[in-house]
Amino acid sequence: MKTVQANGVSINVHDEGTGTPILFVHGFPLDHSMWRGQLNSLVSEFRVIAPDLRGFGATTVTDGVVTMETHADDLAALLDELGIEHSRKIILCGLSMGGYIAWQFHRKYKDRLLGLILCDTRAIADSPEVVANRKKLAATVLEHGTEPVAAAMMPNLFSAASNENRQHTVELTRQCLLATSPQGIAAASLGMAERPDVTADLPSIETPTLLIVGVEDRISTVDEMRGIADAMPNSEFFVVPEAGHMSPLENPEAVNAAIRKFAARL
Ligand code: MLT
Repeated sequence: MKTVQANGVSINVHDEGTGTPILFVHGFPLDHSMWRGQLNSLVSEFRVIAPDLRGFGATTVTDGVVTMETHADDLAALLDELGIEHSRKIILCGLSMGGYIAWQFHRKYKDRLLGLILCDTRAIADSPEVVANRKKLAATVLEHGTEPVAAAMMPNLFSAASNENRQHTVELTRQCLLATSPQGIAAASLGMAERPDVTADLPSIETPTLLIVGVEDRISTVDEMRGIADAMPNSEFFVVPEAGHMSPLENPEAVNAAIRKFAARL
């Protein structure tokens, strides 16, 4: 890991390997370690870059509201600081909140993209009810810490198979969530609540895109993600067996094979 100053924050980032860069963007409220099943395996073929986003892991926490656009700006600045020229196009692979950030990265920096990999994410904005829940979660975490967030989120993250057979992975995820800064969680939660609906943009996204979803994902369902894939003109769609919302952690073999196949045709 190294620390890189970018866009006014100190970003903790895993950066290893050579070849086409893949920028892995983690979900809420976790850190770069959720990609360990990809980093170890794909480093032999790619430059794997996995930062802790602003407010998460060992990266600087900033208060208030951190929008998906701010995260995208952080990532573009990070690529610059890592010496990745604009002509060296990257693959951006984001999960859930990482996907919300990917839409904004595409909107502002699409010339830097060779491809997009969107795991277990959504194109729609939050409903008024979800916005209210995000605000409540932000207030709760600031007042009571991360325990209630873990209690609310953990039951929705993993498939039945993972809860049964990958208990160590499930526990590491819970520990990661518990260790996250309450201020970071609140700021990202309020930022997600403000994110725009990108559904109308999907037909005009020409960047080759792989959409990946765990067959048991209850947060961003197979049907919802198939709808995103159908609306995008240059997309592929892959359903991950024995996986829920955390598909790259739950079935890394299947996800890595899909990433390799997609990258080979870019
Ligand atoms: C995530 O995994 O990043 C979250 O489920 C995103 C969300 O709360 O919408």
